[in-house]
Amino acid sequence: MNYLNKKTVEDIDVAGKRVLVRCDFNVPFDAEGNIADPKRIDEALKTIKYLVDHKARVILCSHLGRPKGEFNMKYSLAPVAKYLSQALGQEVKMAKDVVGESAKSIAASLQDGEVELIENVRFHKEEEKNDPAFAKELASLAEIYVNDAFGTAHRAHASTAGVADYLPAVCGYLIQKEITIMGGALTEPKRPFVAILGGAKVSDKIGVITNLLEKVDTLIIGGGMAYTFMNALGYSIGTSICEADKVEQAKDMMAKAKEKGVKFLIPVDNMVGTEYKPDTEHKVVDSDKIPDGWMGLDIGPKTAAMFADAVKGAGTVVWNGPMGVSEWDNFAAGTIAVAKAVAESGAISIIGGGDSAAAVEKLGFAEKMTHISTGGGASLEFLEGKILPGIACLNDK
Ligand code: 3PG
Repeated sequence: MNYLNKKTVEDIDVAGKRVLVRCDFNVPFDAEGNIADPKRIDEALKTIKYLVDHKARVILCSHLGRPKGEFNMKYSLAPVAKYLSQALGQEVKMAKDVVGESAKSIAASLQDGEVELIENVRFHKEEEKNDPAFAKELASLAEIYVNDAFGTAHRAHASTAGVADYLPAVCGYLIQKEITIMGGALTEPKRPFVAILGGAKVSDKIGVITNLLEKVDTLIIGGGMAYTFMNALGYSIGTSICEADKVEQAKDMMAKAKEKGVKFLIPVDNMVGTEYKPDTEHKVVDSDKIPDGWMGLDIGPKTAAMFADAVKGAGTVVWNGPMGVSEWDNFAAGTIAVAKAVAESGAISIIGGGDSAAAVEKLGFAEKMTHISTGGGASLEFLEGKILPGIACLNDK
């Protein structure tokens, strides 16, 4: 499938039409119930503003959290409507339901350039089941469907894919941006192409490693999953996290890298602790000297320097997953060092969403990156080379 051949909002006449726009407003909230990071909402504004400026009658929809198919005020999108009203400088009319009386009557009364936000689509269990009757009812609110929810494009749900069976379906600017930048890196990367993968589990990243081994010049492994690779090399890894059933696959991946001439880097030293706690006793040890009773919780300084060196001079860097338990100060140094190296590399830098994106934002390197994806799971599946149903369902040019 050619992702770049999909129709966009610019390929369809929206004036005077009711346009259902699927966004990913699944944003984090703080303890007081305020939006903690509005990036996903901000990234949706370009498409919404285009539609408003071109006199569409805009009906926004999204999920928020995982309310399990039931109405739950905790997962209401009302705070998003408030944020959007301010960001757009016009009222965003918040419906009390998804496809009920409130959503329908507001949709029917919208004037050109007005905006409605319907409630959390996951208040209906039919959403995640991609139930055709529910998709049809959702589609009946509008005359055109725009998908701009890149973060949810890997889900085949009613609002992300099903509705496209009933309406002309195009993508918004955010999806277009995500697939252009990440797709470009995968198909015609500026070389050397370096991928950095972290996070706790190898099992989450097998697909990405397999796909990227065909494309990159250097593959860097950090985070908890590095210990499965160390185990595969015969190192004793103390109480570090290890997926015993993935050790053989880890060996195969390293052998494949060798065969393909891909430089495969794993940590040479580590910050280890005795317990999985932020304030646990900690020290730096080499990878072949992790003592019994100690677990790796971050890469060590020699590794940070080695990874930074590998990133220097890269043409393209793709990074997904932190190097250690980066939310704990004692184990954040590796992730900080890698973020700094990527930011200063001058390479086309693409940060997969989720934890690595959050780390880059928190550390203040966001501005220096070429692209920070709004999709965690979606960017991972895209990098795995999988077809994303929320994009596949859209009309071709
Ligand atoms: C995300 O936050 O990754 C997306 O919004 C998808 O959410 P989900 O994993 O609950 O489907």
